[in-house]
Amino acid sequence: MQIEKELYLAAGCFWGAEHYLKQIDGVTFTEVGFANGNTENPTYKEVYTDTTGYAETVHLRYDPLRVSLPFLLEMYFKSIDPTSLNQQGEDRGTRYRTGIYYTDSDDLPFIQLALRQEATHYGLPLQVEVELLRNFYRAEDYHQDYLAVNPTGYCHLPVALFQSARDARDTATLQKAENYTRVIKQLQSLLDGEADAIACMANVAALLHETFGFWWTGFYRVVGEELLLGPFQGPIACMHIPFGKGVCGTSWKENRTLMVPDVEEFPGHIACSAASRSEIVVPMKKGGDVVAVLDIDSKDLATFTQVDAYYLGLLVDLLP
Ligand code: SME
Repeated sequence: MQIEKELYLAAGCFWGAEHYLKQIDGVTFTEVGFANGNTENPTYKEVYTDTTGYAETVHLRYDPLRVSLPFLLEMYFKSIDPTSLNQQGEDRGTRYRTGIYYTDSDDLPFIQLALRQEATHYGLPLQVEVELLRNFYRAEDYHQDYLAVNPTGYCHLPVALFQSARDARDTATLQKAENYTRVIKQLQSLLDGEADAIACMANVAALLHETFGFWWTGFYRVVGEELLLGPFQGPIACMHIPFGKGVCGTSWKENRTLMVPDVEEFPGHIACSAASRSEIVVPMKKGGDVVAVLDIDSKDLATFTQVDAYYLGLLVDLLP
């Protein structure tokens, strides 16, 4: 299955920004245009007047099994001065503001964390706008891939930056994808013909925990009106979690995988261990109903991204 994610990044003049972002491994598509403004079908000339509210923006799609959102944001920050308001290089105006516009609200906690982390490098407040994408209009064709078509064209970015984009690899994500693929193969034979869910959960927790070195890896089973602690690896944990409570209870209630890059920012997070800083919870379903959740905690921030969600989703389907 091919999964794809998208993001809209305003990083000053979109000629250089596109040329930079499109060369990052895992970015599968780019186009330039105008985002989050106030008029219909803006032209470049109109946006250039700086009265339309639009930001020059790169729309990008990426393969989250090759490159994670936190990695992409790290690369993005390398290409901007995030403390500069309405100016990048010599380009000035609201159309050159920096901005991160998302279409999936699950991305927002990752974006907010990346900004908090980036802010620690500066003594000044960051000026990067973070908003849900309200609108986007593709720019005229001659702006697309501008620097590939016009290699000597104007660019506010240093040439060395393009080389760093070509060299960049999200090795953490690539390594995870490889490890998950191996773990899933191993589990396919290990669980084959096994009918006892608890026995299978026990070995799944052990294999994941050992392979990835997580802080806490385990299951909570739906028993009556609550989640009850099941097989796990790691420090002792809360035994009972009510429906809708904590990350686990919310995942059960919403019947979907939740990734929490910073547990302190998740309202109602249940801190079984003060050392846990990020978390993923994947519901296990039988006939559409959630029967258990797989919960994994990390001592680091933003450990779990789409690559984990994707493979752990496949993995829980292997359980009886
Ligand atoms: N943090 C979880 C509770 C389970 S422990 O992480 C093992 C939650 O908020 O649901």
